[in-house]
Amino acid sequence: MGNLSRLLKESWTLVEEQQDKVAGYFYARMFLSNPELRNLFPVTMDVQRARLLGALVTSMQLVDDPDRSDEYLHALGRDHRKFHVEPEHYEVVGGALLEALRAFAGERWSIEYDQAWREAYQAISARMIAGAATDTNPPYWNAEVLTHERRGPDVAVLTCRPLQYPLPYRAGQYVSVESPRHRPRLWRTYSIANAPDADNTLEFHVRAVGAGWVSSALVRKVRPGELLRVAAPMGSMTLDASSTRDIVCVAGGTGLAPIKALVQELTRYNRTRWVHVFFGARDRDGLYDLDELNQLAARYPWLSVVPACSDDDGFTGEQGLVSDVVGRYGPWAEHDFFVSGSAPMVRSTLRTLAELQVPSIRIRYDAFSDG
Ligand SMILES: Cc1cc2nc3c(=O)[nH]c(=O)nc-3n(C[C@H](O)[C@H](O)[C@H](O)COP(=O)(O)OP(=O)(O)OC[C@H]3O[C@@H](n4cnc5c(N)ncnc54)[C@H](O)[C@@H]3O)c2cc1C
Ligand code: HEM
Repeated sequence: MGNLSRLLKESWTLVEEQQDKVAGYFYARMFLSNPELRNLFPVTMDVQRARLLGALVTSMQLVDDPDRSDEYLHALGRDHRKFHVEPEHYEVVGGALLEALRAFAGERWSIEYDQAWREAYQAISARMIAGAATDTNPPYWNAEVLTHERRGPDVAVLTCRPLQYPLPYRAGQYVSVESPRHRPRLWRTYSIANAPDADNTLEFHVRAVGAGWVSSALVRKVRPGELLRVAAPMGSMTLDASSTRDIVCVAGGTGLAPIKALVQELTRYNRTRWVHVFFGARDRDGLYDLDELNQLAARYPWLSVVPACSDDDGFTGEQGLVSDVVGRYGPWAEHDFFVSGSAPMVRSTLRTLAELQVPSIRIRYDAFSDG
């Protein structure tokens, strides 16, 4: 760990136990010095749901992490345009962050800590501002919902189309989505479930989780004709067209979305690569798109689909967690892998693949949650 990260981590421990209070103070300082900033944030802003402070602290502490490269920070800055963030806001936010840290660390705060936070914030925000400045896309696209289909109590498949300009993306990428009508100023990421096509339609597969705000609205409230906002695409779970290796896709629940986009892209040019899709859910109802996958497999001889249920004795296909099921097939040492689903599902699949000695460089994955 670099010296800067060490100082940031060490000083954060001084206030960590009081983080709710730190957050309250941080937002109060920010809105006091620039009241207009309040309009950028969600209407309901209890501390657990307010994301900026937590995101800031995590980003600062990872300042030396190669994964938080220029590319990531440029994309984060571009993405912040959807929140209506302007370059001059960075100073206000940085100032409020330092004031909050100083106030709660009290006498244990030092000049060294102060400089470390300033330096990290400066370095990171400069890259975000530069990313935003060079962006040629609009901050977001207004997209009209065309179709909305419930697939069981918690899942919906919906399509929408950007109104003014097409949204350029690659199969396997994800976008942030807002429903200004039902959940104003709350953005969440969803994978696009189709490969780019000529009529610019975007398909999403959404599962409403627990007490979740945005997904439940997308599943239960949104209707055709309404407008969504969709921000620029992100993510690198895309196909390497120069690879000749066969492909294994492992999807859990709505983790199928980006996998379906990849398979659809392959239908356009693939003749030579075998593609195996493992699709897992708790029960048969959770395999909400299996019929369409089976239709694709019937049409393309290079595609095979293995569905699996972990909690449905009546299911006649594979039984067990999809991460275990994939390990029963193989050998896989020469394949390209794409893995997508909840964080626990992705983690256990990566463990299986490590046991099977699949080199990590051949695995691309997206986890849908932090947990
Ligand atoms: C790269 C990426 C791609 C994604 N693609 C999709 C997609 O295609 N389809 C899709 O349905 N979702 C997808 N997600 C997840 C999505 O962005 C939301 O995080 C999720 O739907 C919850 O949002 P919410 O507003 O409903 O819940 P929030 O209001 O954000 O959360 C409410 C509560 O639910 C918990 N929670 C959040 N997410 C989950 C989860 N996945 N499982 C269990 N508990 C959770 C939170 O910890 C919190 O306590 C993706 C996430 C990422 C990072
Ligand atoms: C170094 C500077 C900054 C970093 C590293 C940073 C990082 C982040 C990250 C990672 C998120 C979370 C996104 C998500 O959960 O989907 C976020 C959210 C957000 N950021 Fe920033 N940000 C910075 C500066 C700013 C500034 C200057 C503003 C302007 C006010 C701002 C406004 C927001 C808003 C409004 C949200 C959404 C908050 C919510 O949903 O509760 N950010 N930021």
